[in-house]
Amino acid sequence: MKKIGVFTSGGDSPGMNACLRAVVRGALYYGIEVYGIHRGYRGMIENDIHKMTSRDVSNIIQRGGTILKTARSQRFMTKEGREKAYQNLKNLEIDGLIAIGGNGTLTGMKAFSEEHKIPFVGAPGTIDNDLNGTDYTIGFDTAINTALEAIDKIRDTADSLERGFFIEVMGRHCGDIALLTGIGGGAEIVMLPEIVDDLDEIVESITQMLANKKTSLIVVVAEGDELGNAEELGEKVKEKIPKFKFRVTNLGHIQRGGSPTAADRVLASQLGLGAVEGLLSGKTNVMVGQLKRKLVYTSIDECLKPRKIDNELIRMLRILSI
Ligand code: F6P
Repeated sequence: MKKIGVFTSGGDSPGMNACLRAVVRGALYYGIEVYGIHRGYRGMIENDIHKMTSRDVSNIIQRGGTILKTARSQRFMTKEGREKAYQNLKNLEIDGLIAIGGNGTLTGMKAFSEEHKIPFVGAPGTIDNDLNGTDYTIGFDTAINTALEAIDKIRDTADSLERGFFIEVMGRHCGDIALLTGIGGGAEIVMLPEIVDDLDEIVESITQMLANKKTSLIVVVAEGDELGNAEELGEKVKEKIPKFKFRVTNLGHIQRGGSPTAADRVLASQLGLGAVEGLLSGKTNVMVGQLKRKLVYTSIDECLKPRKIDNELIRMLRILSI
């Protein structure tokens, strides 16, 4: 292998730049040329592909977002789009790819490599923590810390005015952001897509907590909860408990930004170099991840299976929120 391409795709996540830096410098260390593909699959189709040097990734380890930019490409979902992308890579003689992104990115790479047999290794760049094959995805730690900081601030006003707050966090179909910020923020209730919630039971628990002399409450709602979003849930609960004041806050895209935490920078560096070394040793159709502090490579099919929520953490939150 002489030339590899690297790109970031889908929702950006803090630490993508640190990962890119490790990919570029790791490849150069092994004497491999690296091409940065701008705006993910879109740039692959539009031939927005440029050779990178070690200096191109100077001073980016601490920056949120991605200097390569990112996009969600509809065209790449078509065979014709993937064919165009392949021709562009072939013209540049790129013979391996490193894809930094989440489940959409890996799903795209799977289809691409099945059609065009180009070797690739994925690196899990997403705040959602929704992939198997790694304990944590790059950006998750920063996102939960950002959300937690916001929840702490909301708790101050909730406590002062004696209110309940429904706080919506991101995570698409995965409740990990909600669960971890719920535990860290001392939430009374978390609502997760993986758990079938019952509105009457939620109302009953809140009523019990108020009877137990709680004067403020935090309910963290994962955006993918099947009972509805925080706004809808807040409305329903307000109707059932009219005596207590509730407010709703959606933390939104602040969760995707900001300088990556130390944990995310280290993880991103390890996975970036691991992706290069995996590709060079002949691995393909895998994602590099870290399980119990060990670098591992897991098949893309396995990584894309729904990730199980940690029931032990849910049990703990319930015990500690009385
Ligand atoms: O996958 C990352 C993520 O932030 C999800 O948590 C969220 O559902 C989605 O992206 C939002 O996407 P967009 O920024 O395109 O609205």
